[in-house]
Amino acid sequence: MTELYKQAFQYATEFLQSANELPIQVSEDARRNLKYLDVDLPKHGMDSVKVIETMNQWVTPATMKMGSPRFFGFVIGGAYPVSVAANWLGTAWDQNTGLEKTTPAVAMLEKVSARWMLDLLGLPQQSATAFVTGATVANFTALAAARNQVFTTAGWDVEADGLIGAPELHIIISEESHPTVYKSLAMLGLGRNRVIKVPTDDQGRMDMEQFPEIKDNTIIITQAGNINSGAFDPIGQICQLAHTKNAWVHVDGAFGLWAMASRKLKHLGAGLELADSWATDAHKWLNVPYDSGLAFVKNEHALKAAMAITASYLPTENAGRNPSDYTPELSRRARGIDVYAVLRHLGSSGVEALINRCCDCAKYFADLLRGAEFEVMNEVVLNQVVVCFGSEKLNLEIMDQVQKDGTCWVGQTIWKDRLAMRISVCNWQTDSAAVDESFSIINKIAKAVISRCTKV
Ligand SMILES: Cc1ncc(COP(=O)(O)O)c(C=O)c1O
Repeated sequence: MTELYKQAFQYATEFLQSANELPIQVSEDARRNLKYLDVDLPKHGMDSVKVIETMNQWVTPATMKMGSPRFFGFVIGGAYPVSVAANWLGTAWDQNTGLEKTTPAVAMLEKVSARWMLDLLGLPQQSATAFVTGATVANFTALAAARNQVFTTAGWDVEADGLIGAPELHIIISEESHPTVYKSLAMLGLGRNRVIKVPTDDQGRMDMEQFPEIKDNTIIITQAGNINSGAFDPIGQICQLAHTKNAWVHVDGAFGLWAMASRKLKHLGAGLELADSWATDAHKWLNVPYDSGLAFVKNEHALKAAMAITASYLPTENAGRNPSDYTPELSRRARGIDVYAVLRHLGSSGVEALINRCCDCAKYFADLLRGAEFEVMNEVVLNQVVVCFGSEKLNLEIMDQVQKDGTCWVGQTIWKDRLAMRISVCNWQTDSAAVDESFSIINKIAKAVISRCTKV
C-alpha cells in the first residue's frame, strides 16, 4: 500500500510542480495517445502500482493545465495547495457525508464552513447551506426550495402531489441567464420555455424599464456576475419590488457572489442579501478542487422540505445537522473539507485579497488590450474581459493561434451578437507578470493575423 500511495503522490507532486511551465493546451500527440487507455475490459486484473503508472503515462500529458496562472478560459479557478492537500486527506478518510451521526467530523466541517461562508458573503445568518457539485446543482437545489415555498403559499404540496394539476407558477429570468439555469428549470418540471425573459442593457444587466409585472406565485432569477461582462443585475431593486408581491428572488452568483467578500466590490451586489436564495461555486473563485458548489436558502424549512428524505433505516431522533437534509444526494463526498481548509488558510482578508487581485489583473489586461487599440466590449467591473479584434473569422483565427501557442488559454463567446474572446481571471496564482506574458502573446498573434488579413 505504501509504495502505491508514494508513487501516486510522486506523480501528483511532479505534475503540480511542472504544470506552470508546460504548454497549457494539450498536444495532438498526447490526444492521440489516449487510445492506449481504450482497451477491452480485462478478464484478469493488473497490479495496482502498474495501473497508476499506466494512467499517469497517458493521462498526465493529455491534461489541460487549467490550474495555470495563465488559464483564462470559461470561468474556472485553480486549486490552492491547502485545498489539494485537504482533498487528498478527505479521499483517505472516505466519509459518506449523508448523516451527522455516522460522520460527525465532516458534518462539523460543513456546519462551520457554512457559517463562515454566510459571514464572508454578508448573507442572512439563519440561511441553510447545501454543499453540492457546482452552480448548476446549486441553482437546482435553491430553485427546488423556491418551488416548495411558492406552491406552499398557493396551497399546493408539490413534493407530495407533483406538478400535474398544480396552480400556475411564473418564472422571471434575464435574457442573459446562464444556460444551466434553464436546465435546472427543466429538471424541476418548470420548463425551459415557460419563462418571461427580461431584456438586458449594454452590459447584460436586466433592464428595469422593461421589467414585467410580478404576478402571484412568481420566482425571479437574477444574476450576480454576467458570464460575459461580469455585470450584476440590480438585485436590491428587484428584491424590493418582489417582496411587495410575495415573490421569491434567487441569485445565480456562480462566480460573482464572491465579490461580496470584497469591501471594494460589494457595491456591485448592493441589496442582494434581501434575496431568498443564492448559488455559487467554490471550485471557481475559492479555488478548491472539483467539484464544489454551494446553495444558500434563507428559509431552511423550504430547503429541507424539498431535499430531506426519510427512510426506516435512517436515524431521525437527535440526528443533528444531517448534510443530506439539504442536498439532492444522500451519499456524497465531504465537499466541506476543501472549503474549510481554504477559508481557514486565507481568512476573510485572504479571500478579499484574492478577489481584489483577480479583478485588478482583469482591469490591467483590459488596459493593455485597449492600449494596443483592440476593442474591449465590456466595462471591466469584475474579473471578466471581452475583447473583439474585428470580424468573426479574424477572432476565430486569433483565438485558435493563441490556444495552440500554449502560453495562455482564452475562450470564445458570442456576446451582443458578436463573436469575441473572453478572458476570465479567477486563479489564485494569476498576477501582473502572468498578464504581461499572456498579453504579449495575444498582441503579437493578433497584430500578425490582422496585418496578414488586411494585406489579402
Ligand atoms: C453564471 C453561471 N451560472 C451557472 C454556472 C454553472 O456552474 P457549474 O459549471 O459549476 O455547474 C456557471 C458556470 O460557468 C456560471 O458562470
